[in-house]
Amino acid sequence: MRCRELQAYIFVGALWALLQASSGYSPPVIQNSDGSLGGQYLIKIKAGYDIDAVAKEIEDLIVPDDSKSKVHAEIKHKIKNVVPVIVARLNFKAQEKIQTVAGIEYIEEDGIVKEENLASDKDTKVPKDYGLDRINQLDSGLDGNVTINGDGFGTNIYLLDTGIQDLHRDFECRARHAYDAFGGDGFDTCTGHGTAVAGIIAGSRYGVAKRATMHSLKVIGCEAETGSYENHAVSYVMLGLDWVMRNKVSPCVVVLALSTGGSRVLDEAVKTIHDAGCVVVAAAGRSELAKTDEGQPKFFPVGLGYRAPLPPTTPDPNKVDLDNYIHEACARSPARSPYVVTVAAIGSTDTVPSWSNTGLCVDLFAPGESIYTVNFKNDDDFFYASGTAMAAAYVAGAAAVHIANGVTEVPDILPPQVVNNLVKMKILKDTSTCMVLNAGEGTPNRLLYLQPN
Ligand SMILES: *[C@@H]1O[C@H](CO)[C@@H](O)[C@H](O)[C@H]1NC(C)=O
Repeated sequence: MRCRELQAYIFVGALWALLQASSGYSPPVIQNSDGSLGGQYLIKIKAGYDIDAVAKEIEDLIVPDDSKSKVHAEIKHKIKNVVPVIVARLNFKAQEKIQTVAGIEYIEEDGIVKEENLASDKDTKVPKDYGLDRINQLDSGLDGNVTINGDGFGTNIYLLDTGIQDLHRDFECRARHAYDAFGGDGFDTCTGHGTAVAGIIAGSRYGVAKRATMHSLKVIGCEAETGSYENHAVSYVMLGLDWVMRNKVSPCVVVLALSTGGSRVLDEAVKTIHDAGCVVVAAAGRSELAKTDEGQPKFFPVGLGYRAPLPPTTPDPNKVDLDNYIHEACARSPARSPYVVTVAAIGSTDTVPSWSNTGLCVDLFAPGESIYTVNFKNDDDFFYASGTAMAAAYVAGAAAVHIANGVTEVPDILPPQVVNNLVKMKILKDTSTCMVLNAGEGTPNRLLYLQPN
């Protein structure tokens, strides 16, 4: 945690204490700059407290026959493995009351999560496999060689997304449905985002790790079916990460080609996964919220879990360097976490598209614009997709290739997080540098590189 963030938490904690005029600790309520599911919260349990006991205390706040108290609290999930969290619906009265329950560290709004883009036009100027062609050479330009030295055999890739169309020919039965946060069969039925990402990670035709095993965790539902983002929430991603903690098989790579507007609980969860020995790869996110309809710079509402480099005083649009600030991957979770490999996108000319986030929290770039990959609609169809999700997919495939090629074969006296740091270091050391034309101020100018075969 950075000092400024710590100060913010302390400040809010103090504010709550004042407001409540009570003694003892009052857990801060953390907002999400992307908005949230109204009335739903992730309640983080303090170390040393029993989650079931705290849940019981919350439930006991409800006095069913007392119409005056009007406290509504409904516990939806108890997440125990990745980070101890109670997912609950709370009305305002319940939020007030809950301040008196011991063992709560903070209360975070259940924020909205987004897939990191999909729809794309075909770029007729470049070959369909330009992504593979670009990443297997240090220099710019394309030479038609799309080989990769390694295939990721024996690695387990856990993709938390919209599901995977596992029956697609391109996956050769290497993609499996592992978990569905909505209780369904895990199929990618809505946008095809998860299938497109999986095709880049491990598809046999245009994928990087052509023999890795893909485990699909469906944690993003169909927005079109409900007409809202209620199935796009941090809590579903947390359920998926909890499943990974319980069921993962090493060596493992966890892919989050999604993002939300700053979530402390999600950041803590990816750290747990990292410490348990899985390499976590995340999309840098997109900057579509940058401008208002009138074209004016839009300043994100400052949630408390939010760490964008906001100007210290009231923002003056004339003085703020918006180009740096609105593209900030540091404003997204899990992109801002130092425990993930955060990937921004380039197009075929080594140029960063306007929609890709950049900044200090980015670890490297990879192709992400007009990427030809697996189409979920047909068992043998392909189409074009764009986004930092696609860029993250190349890096996830690269992580699997490095693992299978033996990067992590070290004396097993080393703790798991050190071993998986070796993978991150390998990815970052092997990059081609200074190739990205408009990397953005503060962004490391590194582009994914894997040896050809
Ligand atoms: C790709 O490049 C590598 C390294 O230069 C070379 O060994 C290999 O034969 C090339 N493969 C093809 C299919 O061109």
